[in-house]
Amino acid sequence: MASTRRPIIAGNWKMFKTTGEAVAFTEALWQKVQPRANANLPEIVLCPPYTALSAVQESAAKLQAPFITAAQNMEGRDNGAYTGEISPLMLLDLGVRWVVIGHSERRQYYAETDETVTLKTLAALRHGLTPIICVGESLQERENGLTDRVIEQQVRAVLAQLSAAELPKVVFAYEPVWAIGTGKVCEAPEANRVCALIRHFISEYGNAEQTRILYGGSVKPDNTSALMSQSDIDGGLVGGASLEADSFFGIIEQACLVKA
Ligand code: PGA
Repeated sequence: MASTRRPIIAGNWKMFKTTGEAVAFTEALWQKVQPRANANLPEIVLCPPYTALSAVQESAAKLQAPFITAAQNMEGRDNGAYTGEISPLMLLDLGVRWVVIGHSERRQYYAETDETVTLKTLAALRHGLTPIICVGESLQERENGLTDRVIEQQVRAVLAQLSAAELPKVVFAYEPVWAIGTGKVCEAPEANRVCALIRHFISEYGNAEQTRILYGGSVKPDNTSALMSQSDIDGGLVGGASLEADSFFGIIEQACLVKA
């Protein structure tokens, strides 16, 4: 039976784009997407830096473009003396409804752990935000045959704290660290194997059929079709190729063709 999960193509801009550049991108992307707006579009998620969230949100609203804006991170607590942090309430205040949690760059450079990822996920759900929870093994872990164990630990840390009713409300992204920003894409069957493994872990906590699982790591227009044809890959979390409207649209287009 074909999956009823709506695909997601998310662009993670990381620490790129001023507000002016972000608005120009949003307009350029909409010019390309609009002629297809009645077709079976994936959910299109834009993850600008905090400083451009409002501008993208307002630009999409003005254009009546169905783009979802997501933050790239947030603090798990509602408020307090946490200099430099942004809370879920502040995201809601801007109209933001999605948030990326536990990206490997956050885990690697900002000491995020499975514990902080879980706290942030619970905070997101408490406030009605959709979390995109990132998991993935390093090159060394893969070479040492630890991939499945690492993924299991990262995924179960979060799953253990969720209710069955919350399972369809979260999105997972399998992002092997060695494939991020390196041009080395994980082969589609292997990416699918790990995504299916994540789905298997979810199934131990309730119904796993509604939960969307994305692949991320050097997704480009020319490998999207192979990745999106897989049974357990419901979309992509795209870094580098999401910075130009042409290449990001190329990915959206390929996703439409495969999952139509
Ligand atoms: P990449 O980044 O597409 O540039 O590999 C993916 C990500 O970090 O989400």
